[in-house]
Amino acid sequence: MPISNKGAMRDHLDSVLFGEEQILARLDEIAAQITEDYRGKNLTVVAIMHGGLIIMADLLRRIQLPLKMECISVESYHGGVESSGSVRFNVARMPDFTGEHVLVIDDILDSGRTLDAITTKVMAECHPESVRIGVLLNKITQRVVEVEPDYVAFEIDDLFVVGYGLDYQGRYRNLPLIGTLKEEYILPEHRS
Ligand code: IMP
Ligand code: MG
Repeated sequence: MPISNKGAMRDHLDSVLFGEEQILARLDEIAAQITEDYRGKNLTVVAIMHGGLIIMADLLRRIQLPLKMECISVESYHGGVESSGSVRFNVARMPDFTGEHVLVIDDILDSGRTLDAITTKVMAECHPESVRIGVLLNKITQRVVEVEPDYVAFEIDDLFVVGYGLDYQGRYRNLPLIGTLKEEYILPEHRS
């Protein structure tokens, strides 16, 4: 049963870009493709915390392979509505991916700095067989660093969105849909 979209948090949204059923239908398609692409291979899926956690849970349960999962925690946004440019890893030691094909999952590909930093570090330090990228959203017009995602649920324009893992000031990640916030819920210094 879909999660109820009614109630207080949903009322903070100005518009809904993608509803829950639409998102899950897309994840069904992507999971089928991933199942096909990695059949017979050792697959480890890596969620980028915290944004990648929600799509991770829904996507992984649709992939029909005995995969492993890992989480890597990074900070790249620092609370505003624009990418800050610096990526900090909150890990004592990077995992060892010897013999594993790695699929890195995040909520959104924006400037590209976060996923570029992660894939570069994974390739340099973790000994994977291969590294690919999957994202829920792709903001193509915002790219600063060249990064090509291998799996994308939806492409979007340059809008600040929340829900399904995406946050504003750490909140709204648990909204089961993707939308834009009403201006009254955005701090004056972050309004456009
Ligand atoms: P990057 O600019 O590609 O490095 O994206 C870094 C991070 O910015 C993503 O993992 C998100 O956490 C965050 N981000 C980018 N665009 C949005 C948005 O529209 N809403 C919420 N977070 C975003
Ligand atoms: Mg974030």
